[in-house]
Amino acid sequence: MAKRILIVDDEPSIRKVLSAHLRRFGHDVDTVADGAAAIAALQDEPFQLVVSDLKMPNVDGMQLLEWCVVNQPGLPVILITAHGTVDTAVTALKKGAFDYVTKPFDRDDLHAIITKALATEAANAKRLAPEPGEELGMVGRTPAMQEVYARIEKVAPSPTTVLITGESGTGKELVARALHARSDRASGPFIQVNCGAIPENLFESELFGYEKGAFTGAVGSKPGRFELADGGTLFLDEVGELPLDMQVKLLRALQEGVIDRVGGIRPLTVDVRVVAATNVDLSQAVANGRFRNDLYYRLNVIPIPLPPLRDRPEDVPRLAQHFLKRFNSRLQRDITAIDDDALVALQAYDWPGNIRELENLMERLVLLSDADRIRLADLPEGFELPEDDDPSEPRTEELESMGLKEYVRVHTVKLERARIQRVLDAVNGNVTRAAQQLGISRKSLQTKMKDYGLRED
Ligand SMILES: Nc1ncnc2c1ncn2[C@@H]1O[C@H](COP(=O)(O)OP(=O)(O)OP(=O)(O)O)[C@@H](O)[C@H]1O
Ligand SMILES: [Mg+2]
Repeated sequence: MAKRILIVDDEPSIRKVLSAHLRRFGHDVDTVADGAAAIAALQDEPFQLVVSDLKMPNVDGMQLLEWCVVNQPGLPVILITAHGTVDTAVTALKKGAFDYVTKPFDRDDLHAIITKALATEAANAKRLAPEPGEELGMVGRTPAMQEVYARIEKVAPSPTTVLITGESGTGKELVARALHARSDRASGPFIQVNCGAIPENLFESELFGYEKGAFTGAVGSKPGRFELADGGTLFLDEVGELPLDMQVKLLRALQEGVIDRVGGIRPLTVDVRVVAATNVDLSQAVANGRFRNDLYYRLNVIPIPLPPLRDRPEDVPRLAQHFLKRFNSRLQRDITAIDDDALVALQAYDWPGNIRELENLMERLVLLSDADRIRLADLPEGFELPEDDDPSEPRTEELESMGLKEYVRVHTVKLERARIQRVLDAVNGNVTRAAQQLGISRKSLQTKMKDYGLRED
């Protein structure tokens, strides 16, 4: 595949020779005459390689290298030096240059170095690739979450109504904000209404606003949340709590794009994208007559269901580490790790409060821990190592009657299996990399996987 290469040299003849040479290998080449222009080009578009002269006016090759190391880590920089400046070249290597070539250069040498640099760049790019969901501020890479990310990216740009469903603490608000942030309304307002928190008699004026004198106490006029969200997103949280008469008015607003202030004379046109969320089953509410069928279908044009955390235990360690990092820096603590057995217990827990519960727990653990790590014993009651019903494994009564040695062995086996599974998941089943991470040989990992019934994919 063609790679984009940036050539930086103040000498026009060198630019010409080099670019002709690289183009012959099918690369896409840009040339600039100094470091400042190079930085501008790099900020503009992605390049896979920089080949730069050392000595240039203004921003020289060394300064360019320093900029690249900080701002585009993983981007290889090859420096060109004149004969006799090898010392500087060595300094450049120490600063992170990929390699250097001396003028006049041998084409084969240069070609070999460039091939190697591009291969390194490709490997770096892979390693530096963002975690799925990272750009949305969301952690988790299980298939269920990947589906959520894909749907957010897909529907964010359209003005269509979205209904986010999921148990409490699964991330509904986070998704609503991500939808707004990824839309072309991102610079417009994001207005949130918690439908469960507004007294029934205030709903209409809260949502649609009122005119002066509309009711006793309306001494002035006031815009509602719909109007405030004009040009942006209106997030209707707990939409299942909306009273029936308000549901009619919401439907009209959605269908016709107009609202009526209480006591208003003529309807107002608004340009609002509505994102609704609920943790109750709206179809059930429809069946019970508490939610209008027509509004349900209007809201549910694009559903985004969020999985409960207990259905994706593979994401628990990643989330726990994410919150550990966050609270460590926020609370200025220095807790570096979570013990493996503690992670296993976190994974085995069923998280009725989902991610919020995990977040709160991590905050408490980071705050209260008196060690430099979080241990199984630090976890509150209710967190235990799993005791699964695998018939090949001893049951609780058997465990209790076991000698200490056997008891430890059984638990170690469980821990080991869980750890191997986790690492394999993290490296997408790549046995070589998993073995590296686990610090055991590939062969012994394969033996263990066979023993534990773990497959390679
Ligand atoms: N995928 C995720 N990655 C990282 N943090 C998350 C993720 N999902 C949710 N959170 C965090 O968990 C907490 C709860 O999320 P959020 O408030 O969005 O949940 P919710 O579904 O709206 O809950 P509720 O139904 O109780 O209102 C927030 O602090 C949020 O930042
Ligand atoms: Mg919420």
